[in-house]
Amino acid sequence: MNEVLFYHSEGMGESDLQQVAEALLKDEKTAVESLLDHLVFSETFLKQVASSATALIEKVRLEHRFSGPIDAMLIEYDLSTEEGVALMCLGEALMRIPDPKKQDELIKEKILGSNWKNRSGKSGMMLANAAAWGLVVSGKFLDDQASILSTLRQLFTRLGEPVIRTVIKRVLKQLANQFILGETIKEAKGNAKSLAKKGYAFSFDMLGESALTEKDANFYFEQYQLAITSLSGDPQTPIEKAHSVSVKLSALCPFFNIWHEKKAVNFLSKKLLELVQLAKKHHVALCIDAEENDRLTMTLEVFKKVIQHHLLDGWKGFGFALQAYHKGALEVVKWLTDYLRKVNRFAQIRLVKGAYWDTEIKLAQQLGLPQYPVFTEKFHTDVSYAACAKLLLEGQDVIFPQFATHNAYTLSLIEHLAPKQAKYECQCLHGMGKALYDTYLNQSNGQAVIRMYAPVGVHEDLLPYLVRRILENGANSSFVNQLIDEQVDAKTLAQNPLEQVGKHYLWHHPNIPLPADMFGSARKNSQGKQLANHLHLTAMIQAMNVVSFDVDIKPVTQAPAQLSGVKKIISPHDHRQVLGNVSLALKEMVPDIVACAQKGQTEWEQFNVTQRAAILNQAADLMHERQYQLMAAAILEAGKTYQDAIDELREAIDFLRYYANASLELKDRILPGPTGEENRLMYVPTGPTLCISPWNFPVAIFIGQVSAALAAGNVVIAKPATQTMICATWASQCLYDAGLPESALQIIPCER
Ligand code: FAD
Ligand code: 2OP
Repeated sequence: MNEVLFYHSEGMGESDLQQVAEALLKDEKTAVESLLDHLVFSETFLKQVASSATALIEKVRLEHRFSGPIDAMLIEYDLSTEEGVALMCLGEALMRIPDPKKQDELIKEKILGSNWKNRSGKSGMMLANAAAWGLVVSGKFLDDQASILSTLRQLFTRLGEPVIRTVIKRVLKQLANQFILGETIKEAKGNAKSLAKKGYAFSFDMLGESALTEKDANFYFEQYQLAITSLSGDPQTPIEKAHSVSVKLSALCPFFNIWHEKKAVNFLSKKLLELVQLAKKHHVALCIDAEENDRLTMTLEVFKKVIQHHLLDGWKGFGFALQAYHKGALEVVKWLTDYLRKVNRFAQIRLVKGAYWDTEIKLAQQLGLPQYPVFTEKFHTDVSYAACAKLLLEGQDVIFPQFATHNAYTLSLIEHLAPKQAKYECQCLHGMGKALYDTYLNQSNGQAVIRMYAPVGVHEDLLPYLVRRILENGANSSFVNQLIDEQVDAKTLAQNPLEQVGKHYLWHHPNIPLPADMFGSARKNSQGKQLANHLHLTAMIQAMNVVSFDVDIKPVTQAPAQLSGVKKIISPHDHRQVLGNVSLALKEMVPDIVACAQKGQTEWEQFNVTQRAAILNQAADLMHERQYQLMAAAILEAGKTYQDAIDELREAIDFLRYYANASLELKDRILPGPTGEENRLMYVPTGPTLCISPWNFPVAIFIGQVSAALAAGNVVIAKPATQTMICATWASQCLYDAGLPESALQIIPCER
């Protein structure tokens, strides 16, 4: 087999975004240090920034009372409390679960089972918070604060889940109303009028994202067409002051993922060009929202295709949002300025910190990535934001920078960074940071455009957006959360993030270990890959293409061979690919195999638990070293996809480490036996074990069964699935090479 078997047929090919891909894989310390060179400020400058931020915070607090039920509810049940987490889970899940019965089961668990604490110490907040609940439950404010929560709980218990379900949905609806400017663009335009009088410009976001069907994608596309047409503005107004729309690419394309990269980029570029053409005609700017990190490169490729198009000749209304919380942000700005100068184009760039942080962290953990693509310390994101902001402001010849933030320090920093003649914009979300921006607008000298991002649509389409807003409001590290909390004084809130950099030992958040270290001292997590990062994908493809498949499989046993004739092993999805040969054991071998196992058992019992565990751990490390060989086998022999092959390997490695650790943990545990006498659990091997594994998890389940038995001191006769004997043979080789005696594991390929 000499031809190239592994490739990414939908890949975009050579890219100028290599530096961005590399930066995303950096460790946090290196990533932060590379930002610091861009942030050398005089003490006077920093003092000015801090003092105007402090003054702004004090003014906002003086001019506004944060006493609405929703403000209070978001604070009281913030995400650092058990109840806040319960509410979040509940709210999110309720909107996702279509079946009322299942919704009720969830309520039972989250509300009736939750330990709601009495919070009479924070009575004002609590009253408002409970009021939000009480209002919808009983139609009136409950005023006996001390008993409010228990009253609610009793009420809930009495009312039962179906009523609570309705109540919670109404509460969520109230919350949703805070963030949506209108259900239709017409309504939103009407509602925007009073805000426009105060000086706000708008970017309308037609709600909807992650379309799963063509029908949904078409619907969202039409909504944008409709919005742009009805926002038609005066061509004499400079485009920076005109209306704008914010578009999520995932809403327009149901296959916006790495596996359809080329197709998705081409499709989205065409769709966007249609919108851009319309936007240009109606004098409306258009910004691509930033979504999940694994869509970053594709988004930039779409941007490149669109901005180069002749339709954009001389038009300055197109751009995208950039998230500062990822390690590649500054590299994107550097690439962008060079690129725009090269192709002689101008773009509006919205800098945000990033709204998908929790998702990115969880996903990286789930995938076992070597590094998080995002920072884990909030002030690292702030530092990245500052570095990107500075560079964007320096690129005025090709960029109109738009700074989206609800943080007074960040606003103040931008104001001081911006040269006197600089054109720029500051942005907030509808329903967030309004107090800050109302005050800021009043005191601003008009240099910056102030724009509000205004979601438009129905509640059903709001959910993911709403969750991101609740997370931002609820996180106790968020500026908006702390602004309302009078316990946090203005000076503390206006602290320069640079002061915190390097003042701690870890260079990452102490509660967010790297994915590899997630299981603490128990075991190392297996390592995965981010296939959306071309560096990972290319490395995997290259390594798999050099795997040799000239395999000759025979039983691994001391039993005298009685074999079938040689059979070819053929790839199930490409019958031209002959992967090797196999000679199967005939059933006449069985008695000898069993006798070998019994003999082997005595030998294996000479290894103590610690030695057995060491062999399994060593095999896990070897399996990681040989991952590409095993992934190639899982793909060619079992028909796995690339991602499935990675997951397959990771699961097998996890099994080895898990059972090694479990056996060590149980080593000294004394458990009472059935008749009251004491047994040492792991010191009682039960004897030879037969492991028959399926073809659909040819490495993971094979290794899972085998390693559990071996860890417990039992020898194994393994019968791999007839379809996947190469996977089993190569996986077993890791065990033998780690020191497992052949007598402890016999591999017997045979017919069913
Ligand atoms: P701050 O409180 O100063 O910062 C909070 C942010 O810090 C979090 O959102 C997160 O990004 C980051 N953070 C929090 N904890 C940590 C941690 N432990 N480690 C590292 N970083 C951390 N977001 C998008 O993703 N895509 C968009 O297209 C987008 N468009 C927006 C448009 C507008 C007009 C506005 C105002 C916001 C937009 N956002 C978008 C949301 C934006 O990302 C959040 O509102 C923003 O992150 C909040 O930052 P802040 O400066 O207001 O608040
Ligand atoms: C979001 O959808 C505002 O684009 C940002 O969370």
